[in-house]
Amino acid sequence: MRILVTGGAGFIGSHTCVELLNAGHEVVVLDNLSNSSEKSLERVEEITGKKLNFYKEDILDREALDRIFEKENPDGVIHFAGLKAVGESVQKPLEYYHNNISGTLTLTDVMRKHGVKNIIFSSSATVYGNPQVIPITEECPKGTCTNPYGWTKSMLEQILTDIQFADKEWNVILLRYFNPIGAHKSGLIGENPNGIPNNLMPYITQVAVGKLPQLGVFGDDYDTPDGTGVRDYIHVVDLAIGHVKALKKIQEKAGLKIYNLGTGVGYSVLDIVKNFEEATGVKIPYVIKERRAGDIASCYADAAKAKEELGWVAERGIKEMCEDSWRWQSNNPNGYEN
Ligand code: NAD
Ligand code: UD1
Repeated sequence: MRILVTGGAGFIGSHTCVELLNAGHEVVVLDNLSNSSEKSLERVEEITGKKLNFYKEDILDREALDRIFEKENPDGVIHFAGLKAVGESVQKPLEYYHNNISGTLTLTDVMRKHGVKNIIFSSSATVYGNPQVIPITEECPKGTCTNPYGWTKSMLEQILTDIQFADKEWNVILLRYFNPIGAHKSGLIGENPNGIPNNLMPYITQVAVGKLPQLGVFGDDYDTPDGTGVRDYIHVVDLAIGHVKALKKIQEKAGLKIYNLGTGVGYSVLDIVKNFEEATGVKIPYVIKERRAGDIASCYADAAKAKEELGWVAERGIKEMCEDSWRWQSNNPNGYEN
């Protein structure tokens, strides 16, 4: 298929471009580079030995989208473009709602105009809020989000559901990601957060590389085996492959589908520290801090539906996730800047 990948220069997008090209799809990337570098796409081409077409454009720019759809004539869209910093979204709700929601409304309107009615959307386990059942199945009711970023995901799920309900020609797949970490084996592409990382693994790798002195563990009094928060960490390459499988489902005219993309296994913060140290031989000093506002105790997937309906399972374990995160960070201590 010929796929337009919005946000394709970002962390998950770049890994997905690799897997799409490896699977024989044609790839067109649209990204405004607000949180990424074009170098990631050069490296995608280096890894795969294949070319993609790149447009430095914004999903809010209707004329630009029109031109790209006219010229490229994609069969479907994988929609990663969005702002994703949880804390920042609390400070800048208007910017988040505008970029993520208005951007997606513009994108889907242009898709409709050009008769492109296949979309895979990057949602998040955050839509479950504090989940009512663990492991979390797709039937678990959506919950209350603790920040505007989370609400954009929850609202966009509803918007895309309504679009598909009104016009059954649409195929909409909502993928709810758990916690993506790791990097491509080559060490050429990976996660490149701006400033001090909010998420656990990039924080750990920056401690390991000497950019930060120590990890703060946010709370050790949760109702979990060791008191620290439990999450379902998933290798970004497994996540990327999940999108290629979802495209097959789109080709079967799937209608509306929702899948969790997780491993089904939960690890605590201290499990991750221990696994990282074992996998890399690098010690991670840490201190216990207060709980972080909005955090929940445990969150991990029941991944059975994706296995049954997409034939997808996460294959890469925690050791590989730690090794690959570390290879990327140690080879590229400043991300894509040299
Ligand atoms: P990322 O920031 O690395 O990638 C997002 C990309 O979108 C960036 O390259 C950015 O420049 C681009 N972008 C943002 N706004 C844009 C706009 N208006 N027009 C064009 N491009 C724009 O983030 P990521 O981790 O790769 O996440 C990809 C998607 O997956 C996001 O929608 C994110 O919310 C979602 N998601 C991420 C996680 C995670 O833990 N990383 C978890 C759940 C869901
Ligand atoms: C966070 C977001 C979620 C988003 C996801 C992916 C919040 C409340 N949730 O999920 O909406 O979809 O990232 O971007 O921000 N931790 C530490 N020290 C740190 C960093 C994290 O102890 O320096 C702990 C957290 O308390 C948590 C675990 O590590 O228990 C994972 O945290 P993180 O990587 O930020 O992911 P989530 O909070 O699961």
